[in-house]
Amino acid sequence: MKHILILVLSLSVAYGQLLWNTCSDEPFCDRIRNGGVTAPLVLNRYSIGFNFSSVNAILTNSAGDRNFSLSISATENEIFRITIDDLSNPRYRVSQALQGEPVQLPIVATIGQESLQITTSTGALLLLDYATLKISVYKNGNLVVIINDNGKTTFNTQEDDQSIAIDFTFPGATTAYGIPEHAERLSLQSTGPGGLNPYRLYNVDFPSYPIGTQQALYGAVPVLYGHSVNATAGIFWLNSAQTFVDIARTSNSVQSLFISEGGIIDIFVLTGPTLESAVKQYTSLTGTAPLPQHYTLGHHQSRWSYLTQEDAETVVRQFDNYDLPLDVIWLDIDYTYGFRYFTWNYTAFPDPVGLQEFVNSTGRKVVLIIDPHYKVDAEYFVWVTATANDYFVKNPDGTDYQADCWPGLSSWIDFLKEDASAYYASLYGMDNFTDATDIVQIWNDMNEPAVFDVFEKTFPRDLVHYGGVIHRDVHNIYGFSQTAATFDGLLARYDYNKRPFILTRSHFAGTQRHSAIWTGDNYASWEHLRISFPMCLTQAISGISYCGADVGGFSGQVTEELFQRWYQAGAWLPFYRAHADQYTERREPYLFREEVLNRFRNALRLRYTYLPTWYTRFFEHERYGEPVIMPLSYVYSSDANTVDMDDQWLVGRNILVHPVAEEGATIVSVYMPGGASELWFDIANNLMYYGVGYTPVLVTMDSVPVYHRGGSILARKEIARPSSALMHSDPFTIYVFLDVNNYATGTLYIDDNQSFNYRNGVYSYYRMQHINNVFSVTLIDPDAYYPDGVFTIDTIWVYRPPAHYKEAVINGNTRYAVTYTNDSSIMKIENIGNINVKESTVISFV
Ligand SMILES: *[C@@H]1O[C@H](CO)[C@@H](O)[C@H](O)[C@H]1NC(C)=O
Ligand SMILES: *[C@@H]1O[C@H](CO)[C@@H](O)[C@H](O)[C@H]1NC(C)=O
Ligand SMILES: *[C@@H]1O[C@H](CO)[C@@H](O)[C@H](O)[C@H]1NC(C)=O
Ligand SMILES: *[C@@H]1O[C@H](CO)[C@@H](O)[C@H](O)[C@H]1NC(C)=O
Ligand SMILES: *[C@@H]1O[C@H](CO)[C@@H](O)[C@H](O)[C@H]1NC(C)=O
Ligand SMILES: *[C@@H]1O[C@H](CO)[C@@H](O)[C@H](O)[C@H]1NC(C)=O
Ligand SMILES: *[C@@H]1O[C@H](CO)[C@@H](O)[C@H](O)[C@H]1NC(C)=O
Ligand SMILES: *[C@@H]1O[C@H](CO)[C@@H](O)[C@H](O)[C@H]1NC(C)=O
Repeated sequence: MKHILILVLSLSVAYGQLLWNTCSDEPFCDRIRNGGVTAPLVLNRYSIGFNFSSVNAILTNSAGDRNFSLSISATENEIFRITIDDLSNPRYRVSQALQGEPVQLPIVATIGQESLQITTSTGALLLLDYATLKISVYKNGNLVVIINDNGKTTFNTQEDDQSIAIDFTFPGATTAYGIPEHAERLSLQSTGPGGLNPYRLYNVDFPSYPIGTQQALYGAVPVLYGHSVNATAGIFWLNSAQTFVDIARTSNSVQSLFISEGGIIDIFVLTGPTLESAVKQYTSLTGTAPLPQHYTLGHHQSRWSYLTQEDAETVVRQFDNYDLPLDVIWLDIDYTYGFRYFTWNYTAFPDPVGLQEFVNSTGRKVVLIIDPHYKVDAEYFVWVTATANDYFVKNPDGTDYQADCWPGLSSWIDFLKEDASAYYASLYGMDNFTDATDIVQIWNDMNEPAVFDVFEKTFPRDLVHYGGVIHRDVHNIYGFSQTAATFDGLLARYDYNKRPFILTRSHFAGTQRHSAIWTGDNYASWEHLRISFPMCLTQAISGISYCGADVGGFSGQVTEELFQRWYQAGAWLPFYRAHADQYTERREPYLFREEVLNRFRNALRLRYTYLPTWYTRFFEHERYGEPVIMPLSYVYSSDANTVDMDDQWLVGRNILVHPVAEEGATIVSVYMPGGASELWFDIANNLMYYGVGYTPVLVTMDSVPVYHRGGSILARKEIARPSSALMHSDPFTIYVFLDVNNYATGTLYIDDNQSFNYRNGVYSYYRMQHINNVFSVTLIDPDAYYPDGVFTIDTIWVYRPPAHYKEAVINGNTRYAVTYTNDSSIMKIENIGNINVKESTVISFV
């Protein structure tokens, strides 16, 4: 969100001045990466034991004076789990990232003289060679992952070095994806001794970060995929300590070395065999995002900070005055009384409830920031209670850790302590968070955690958490733990029947279960706009679909052209918020000249017309584990051109987006996938393309290149409204994009937009279909229905209609004439009296 340095962009020196530790600055990493393995582990063959679901054995170090437990099991969805822990000194295990203890499957183990073999009932196979400790994993008879291929397995047990490491090979893979968060392309670069530094996973506050580097950022999701046109497999490295990951893309494999500063070796092998199945295997472990409240998919307006109540109210009013859609106004740290979270500065915000009532009356909501640092102040109730109950993170000597942050000297809640988390959750209670009303949701920022004036602006690693856990071992889940507590707090705040919305900067594997994320303190540059696409795509295949970047770039002065392109592109990422640093000129969209303002308005409106699609995608994400947005390689995995493609993406399987993200662009090269029989429709320009690859597309400043797949059906809401809440009873406009067989299908999900009643069947999930001259709508889950849902249709467009369509017969009686445009390639039925679909509708074309 913010930082204390003011970074100056000059010709030769760009943003991103901070240079933090790399592997060579961290002795544990440097030793493992550049030295040999000094103490290889040896498997004691006679220790191997087997019960129905796991094989267990003892490993011994070469000196013979230390034993380690090795455990191998198989879990649901074709995943193998391998753990190694120190038997005499068991270490911290990161359990909270998983959505539950994975269900172990029965396995068949064959314990041979030289190796052991484990098979699952579904045909995945694991081979462990005793002498080399090499583990080979097969899927459908193909070797997909080799663990310890290069013999790098390390488990250090010295007082001052508890690091661990292991190497992986993905045979046949040509690229690697995953391990966010880095300001990096979808395809990771080769690193390695003599080359680039390894990718670092260590949550830090890194304002105006440089692009295309291995530097750590705010979050860490240790899942890595080895991908090729033939197969994909993955490794989930469940460890929350600082981690370095080397990648080597060779001609016939991807090799990788994971090095962590502490914790245990805990590996999940995602056997694939496709990117889709590997991603779903990963989300089966760490969970999917619960369906968000509908309004959160609208446009969010933020700034560090709207300093007064009047300022915030004026912003909302101006959005209305200028006909700009808006759903949420955000209050950054300055609404608080001296950065004491859960309080208000009543001088600046004399009537916070009045402010919220006003915002509510315009159909909008408020998000308030709450950070994890608490001011050391004997008059401040949070500090008093947390101090009295020992809820703060400790120094090694047992005293409360104190350091500077926004409020001055502060302490940090220890979320590993259950009571502290529960207390923290209760702070969000309706009775406890004074003057926060029922329209408030939460932004958890600075939770890497960020600390001022200390090394790397974060906690020293020797701080101590509850139970004597050393911070080093849990650094990367600090932010996750805050959002988990906030989530519990918001659930309780809204009586367990309103879906919490949380935006978090720091994140870890599993964060999707509680929060949305954004890409942190980016910069107003073209390359920051472009990198936001792969950053969110990488998050999406790493479980976190609800991702966006600050529209306009947080820091730096945004140019008009860049800002227009950013509003246009940002509309196609799941989270859509404009935000800006306090050092930037005011840049609310209504402050711009009319031509520019019109484009902002068009981009915002375009987003709102697609809200039904976003909402349906999120429902399908929760249910099926499929990302909301995805790289082309997720769907068109056998097409070699998609492997490194990240300047365009898919929203579901039916919408292809290639935003203009080059300064001065008049043409973009859009890749149309799928082959000659795949059709792609541009409804803004009435154009049709075949899926035959790179296609030059002429663009103007008004262009937002978006294509709809032939074979799909889209439901849009096209009446411009000030906010999503005011669109709920509007009719839908349906687009039927016929494929070469005159077939099309699509889905639409409707519920009450806010509660958890959908989990009890109070929703309508529709399949729309066009087949054999009939367009029909039916319920996919016949037992689920949302009686208050509005699904009326006023217009239907059919692209590539069969020439003989003259009339549409609705539900067997009413007849409507159809009209043709664009040389009869587009057909329209309009003013069809808002047909009310209810549970089903049939429209026959004659
Ligand atoms: C199998 O053995 C492991 C290790 O001893 C143990 O944790 C696990 O609970 C056992 N499983 C069953 C089904 O007995
Ligand atoms: C390691 O385990 C073996 C049994 O496999 C046992 O004999 C030996 O005493 C153990 N060593 C230590 C240091 O615990
Ligand atoms: C994919 O498999 C085919 C057939 O086995 C093989 O010819 C091709 O080289 C493989 N491609 C890659 C990138 O591994
Ligand atoms: C409260 O807001 C006023 C007006 O913006 C400001 O001058 C003052 O410093 C703030 N006080 C605190 C304690 O935040
Ligand atoms: C917001 O509006 C809804 C109804 O539209 C009402 O039930 C609720 O109490 C309002 N909340 C606030 C803070 O005004
Ligand atoms: C308010 O906080 C107290 C503890 O400080 C807690 O017992 C109570 O449940 C909280 N109220 C709500 C509505 O969460
Ligand atoms: C519109 O008509 C033109 C000219 O016939 C044609 O090239 C184009 O594909 C049509 N557009 C659609 C969406 O079918
Ligand atoms: C939620 O949205 C749907 C569809 O837009 C609408 O039919 C329904 O009435 C809304 N529900 C509420 C409670 O606003």
